[in-house]
Amino acid sequence: MYQLILPTAKLKASYDAYIAELGSEERYPFPLDFEHRDFEAMLDRIEGIRNGTRVPDGFVQSSTFWMVADDEIIGCTNIRHRLNAQIEYCGGHIGLSVRPSFRRQGLGIKLLQLSLEQARELGIQTAHIHCHKHNVASRAMIEACGGVFHSEINDNGSLVSRYLIELT
Ligand SMILES: CC(C)(COP(=O)(O)OP(=O)(O)OC[C@H]1O[C@@H](n2cnc3c(N)ncnc32)[C@H](O)[C@@H]1OP(=O)(O)O)[C@@H](O)C(=O)NCCC(=O)NCCS
Repeated sequence: MYQLILPTAKLKASYDAYIAELGSEERYPFPLDFEHRDFEAMLDRIEGIRNGTRVPDGFVQSSTFWMVADDEIIGCTNIRHRLNAQIEYCGGHIGLSVRPSFRRQGLGIKLLQLSLEQARELGIQTAHIHCHKHNVASRAMIEACGGVFHSEINDNGSLVSRYLIELT
């Protein structure tokens, strides 16, 4: 029922509703922050990062997917194809969020499971998953998906918990 798809113009109305629900909430993953009034331009920007033709300096190639059910966007995930030193330290392989009106129904766990399947298909053997220590929901989601606590770091005054998930 729930599946990951590449972003598509067909679901623009659902995407607009998702962004409206987020309001001033911090946006995860980063493509949710992209200017989206020119929807095709936003899709193009996301695709350039996925296919490697237009990856911004300091970023690595990454794939963005929407989790959908019945043509409604339920969540968004961004999977980095590899780590660089910066995101190995803080950021990890996967950033995701569930649309606010769909939270607390087990869908974060579903979205992370689907993201891990994609990561495995990309050849990632050990997924590095990071979250802010105070983000109780994110920590519970990561642990429910088999995350093994690795370490904690202080990122500019904010504690970040780092987990590993073996995908082989
Ligand atoms: C983190 C997030 C994806 C979880 O999505 P969700 O659909 O609400 O999560 P689930 O319903 O699958 O619940 C996952 C676990 O978190 C717990 N949980 C969810 N929301 C919670 C909350 N507000 N407070 C405490 N625990 C919470 C659930 O009980 C569940 O734990 P359990 O398996 O031990 O019962 C969602 O809160 C979100 O999008 N947050 C904003 C973006 C974000 O923080 N992304 C993560 C960045 S690393």
